[in-house]
Amino acid sequence: MEQYAIKGGNPLVGEVEIGGAKNAALAILAAAAMTDETVVIENMPDVRDINVLIQAMESIGVVVNRIDRHSVKINGSQIHSLVIEDDYIKKIRASYYLLGALLGKYKKAEVTLPGGCNIGSRPIDQHIKGFRALGADVCIEHGLIHAQAEKLVGSHIYLDVVSVGATINVMMAAVMAEGKTIIENAAKEPHVVDLANFLNSMGANIKGAGTDVIRIKGVSRLHGTEYVIIPDQIEAGTFMFAAAVTHGDITVKNVIPKHLESISAKLLEIGCEIKESDDAVRVVSAKTLKHTHVKTLPYPGFPTDMQPQIAVALGLSEGTSMVTESIFENRFKYVDELTRMGANVKVEGNTAFIEGVSKYTGATITAPDLRAGAALVIAALAAEGVTVVDEIKYIERGYEDFDLKLQTLGAQIEKVETDRDLQKFKLKVG
Ligand code: UD1
Repeated sequence: MEQYAIKGGNPLVGEVEIGGAKNAALAILAAAAMTDETVVIENMPDVRDINVLIQAMESIGVVVNRIDRHSVKINGSQIHSLVIEDDYIKKIRASYYLLGALLGKYKKAEVTLPGGCNIGSRPIDQHIKGFRALGADVCIEHGLIHAQAEKLVGSHIYLDVVSVGATINVMMAAVMAEGKTIIENAAKEPHVVDLANFLNSMGANIKGAGTDVIRIKGVSRLHGTEYVIIPDQIEAGTFMFAAAVTHGDITVKNVIPKHLESISAKLLEIGCEIKESDDAVRVVSAKTLKHTHVKTLPYPGFPTDMQPQIAVALGLSEGTSMVTESIFENRFKYVDELTRMGANVKVEGNTAFIEGVSKYTGATITAPDLRAGAALVIAALAAEGVTVVDEIKYIERGYEDFDLKLQTLGAQIEKVETDRDLQKFKLKVG
């Protein structure tokens, strides 16, 4: 089993190129199958979740040709099955985007109930409510979600919770429904906007994405397009916090600084300097870090996918901080691991009370999920001694070449597979 071996203590310095947004890419890939014409997608991150979704799409007849590591050509004209039930697809949350995409195009789809990170109960009632409002019959049987409609008809849908997934799924189905759909209380995340822009470039008529009311006029067909995916806000944010905790100086390049505002604001509050340019953000961490309070919220609030990373930084900040998780109820599973590294954190309900300590120390720890795994790597980069992080397959679901990018910033991190590899690493780093 592969692990990361990390020797902490080096300030991270330099520039790092941020890849395409995983969560935008998942939605856009599924939507690309909605036309029979060829679609070219660029800036696609080469991460496990994306590759699993591509495999699932291939299994129903979508033709996927890789042009290079980050560009793919998709053709959905040969789809021969509307049933996606392979076991591997359960591993990723976004498998259910094929439900909205296929329901929109063929008025029928059957997809295995999704998995994804175990960060709390993840209901799909709002997706189902939206599909039903458009006229589909939806039921769940033997672990499969079945959705089918004679025809889809535009509707006025009020989402009871702000859900990225439901907004995306309903938007995809509604694009090919007859007449007008209005989605109220829609999610405003950058990837929702990116999907809307992508669909519009295929001939859809979507207005208002990025606000909480999205208006869609249905069209009968979509056409081919070429599209470049937006940069990954969470990958960028993760490197920005790595700079903060290691007292480094990092420039994240190929980003949209506007998408990073809630992250930059918190870094400023805890004592970092932030310098923004058109498509880059520099984080300089020269002072002792200070405590703060943070609550995760839908965009433009502080992202839940950055919660473990900020908690790791606050664990090394002077004073007492409070981190409140308001999106998912089970997102503090990494706290036990962080405590093994010397953090002083108590979790009560959905709030973590963090008493800053002066240092973390290396330990053998396990990545409990994607973002928490990345956060523990950041903790290890700041820790005294060597840390071994298990279950890095979770991290690889969403970070491309995480270890290699960190190495270019001066981190001592290596992938190891055996005890011998680990001993070699320890000898090398001294
Ligand atoms: C997406 C992201 C994930 C991120 C999350 C919140 C993808 C592939 N994943 O997940 O990385 O952490 O947004 O920004 O893009 N809810 C319901 N009913 C529903 C749907 C959601 O009650 O039908 C609740 C969820 O339990 C949660 C909240 O709504 O409490 C937000 O979830 P949602 O925005 O849907 O998250 P995902 O789309 O699953």
